[in-house]
Amino acid sequence: MNRIIVAIDGFSSCGKSTMAKELARETGYIYVDTGAMYRAVSLFCIKNNWMTETGINSEELEKHIQDIRIEFRTNSNGVSETYLNDENVESEIRTLEVANGASRVSTLRFVRRELVRQQQLMGLKKGIVMDGRDIGTVVFPEAELKIFLTADPEIRAQRRFQEMNVKGDAVDYNNVLANVIERDDRDQNRTESPLRKADDAIIIDNSNLTPIEQQKILHELFTEKTRID
Ligand code: DC
Repeated sequence: MNRIIVAIDGFSSCGKSTMAKELARETGYIYVDTGAMYRAVSLFCIKNNWMTETGINSEELEKHIQDIRIEFRTNSNGVSETYLNDENVESEIRTLEVANGASRVSTLRFVRRELVRQQQLMGLKKGIVMDGRDIGTVVFPEAELKIFLTADPEIRAQRRFQEMNVKGDAVDYNNVLANVIERDDRDQNRTESPLRKADDAIIIDNSNLTPIEQQKILHELFTEKTRID
């Protein structure tokens, strides 16, 4: 079987990471959550008081960008977790505050340049499933399999709302929906690497798909791309 690069892009809260993780587990590929990398940069800014309601102290961030070391380590349950400068930040980076900050830091050119460089290094040996917003367009334009995942905003907000409720976070559905819409807007309209479907990406709209149906579609596409004729 051919070893390939699988690029999964799409809107926030579409289930990209669930889909990517499952494919990586089935195939033995490495999984990389690039959103977690932007979230880790956001958390670094918050911890240093460089993030306010209105903006980021991008000068300080640029000076210290090389001090940010992001790694993924697999825990004893086989789950990949995000580390920021040797500290496990996997749960800290999943809050709305950090997500909002990530959406802001991801508009900065020097941040993207550095994270894209690190992501490209991770894919040198192929055998990787990477999810994000610019994987098929910027990080790996030559990826053999590109997916563009989408779902209606209300459905995505409902899924996110349920997830947060289960975790015990007291959130309001309307706030979650507003957050989803705001992030879509920022992701699509930023100057630096805006979210867009690569010309050769395959669209999967999972608004009405079960996780099993979605995984079956992805698995068939993967098998087709890795088959050696
Ligand atoms: O997928 P996520 O919600 O964890 O991503 C967090 C933020 O990072 C989101 O606003 C989009 C941004 N992002 C990006 O600009 N490029 C990527 N490759 C991944 C995420």
